[in-house]
Amino acid sequence: MAFPGTGKIWMNGTLIDWKDANVHIATHVIHYGSAVFEGARCYATPRGSACFRLDAHMRRLQQSAKIYRMDYNLDLAGWNEAVLETIRANDMKACYIRPIVYRGYDSLGVNPLTCPVDAAILLWEWGAYLGKEALEEGVDVKVSSWSRMAPNTLPAMAKSAANYANSALIKMEALADGYSEWIALDVAGNISEGSGQNIFMVRDGAIVTPPLGSSILGGITRDSVMTLARDLGYTVTESVIPREALYIADEVFFVGTAAEVTPVRSIDKLKIGSGKRGPVTQALQQAFFAVINGEMPDTHGWLTYVYPAEASLRSPRTVAGARS
Ligand SMILES: Cc1ncc(COP(=O)(O)O)c(C=O)c1O
Repeated sequence: MAFPGTGKIWMNGTLIDWKDANVHIATHVIHYGSAVFEGARCYATPRGSACFRLDAHMRRLQQSAKIYRMDYNLDLAGWNEAVLETIRANDMKACYIRPIVYRGYDSLGVNPLTCPVDAAILLWEWGAYLGKEALEEGVDVKVSSWSRMAPNTLPAMAKSAANYANSALIKMEALADGYSEWIALDVAGNISEGSGQNIFMVRDGAIVTPPLGSSILGGITRDSVMTLARDLGYTVTESVIPREALYIADEVFFVGTAAEVTPVRSIDKLKIGSGKRGPVTQALQQAFFAVINGEMPDTHGWLTYVYPAEASLRSPRTVAGARS
């Protein structure tokens, strides 16, 4: 969906009009992909707008920046407040949140250290990434012919703009082949992740997901789903997954800020399990949506309310609202 082109963007601490949030063509990030960023969500809950795991997202932003030796003068509390301030300034009820830290304008060359470290926060409206139907019916995906970055090349744990050149190659191949999504292998040929999602499989009631060493981004939804699964009494392990293990899994699902919890119903035209959303996926979807919709107590402290005073006056079920 194209941007409406209105509203305010936070740039280095100042809120400016969307149309004025520009950089010069000689800015380092444009030429060398020298940026790290985040993707978080704010949901409309019965207690008002709430960001899901804002702390964890902003901590990962700081960690991505550290890996790339980018020092930005804002601590975690400062980042959290900047995001909340931007949401309030735009009067958004629910939105996607995109903070970015990038090498700015000074000179051009492979060495980024001569350029300033700049930052921005932008917001836009975003619904179900793979479509509402995908959340219920599942998606058909293929294994890509492209692999994820090899260890010690581009760091997969950093959410850096450069990594998304790999994602774009894989995504374009999937689209050319008539799929909306794909699964990438690591360079050893084991399962890594999707374009903007981590992956889980279920076999004989146990839940498995690839470890950080399989060239994945340490997803915040991945961490949340592992926590919710353990709360529900499931066994969850992180282990290397060979490609064929997915074909014979009972259930496979994607998780991510954008995809939330989305079932995978076929891989490489092989039906997964019953070819429909499985019971474990459904239980985890329910638990996940209950948290983000503010329908169950926030026992893990994952919601940051945009208007805390208003939230404290409302109890979770007093106002109908959010999604079903
Ligand atoms: C490559 C990749 N993997 C996994 C994820 C899921 O991470 P999260 O749950 O933190 O959104 C994302 C999304 O940011 C991603 O871009």
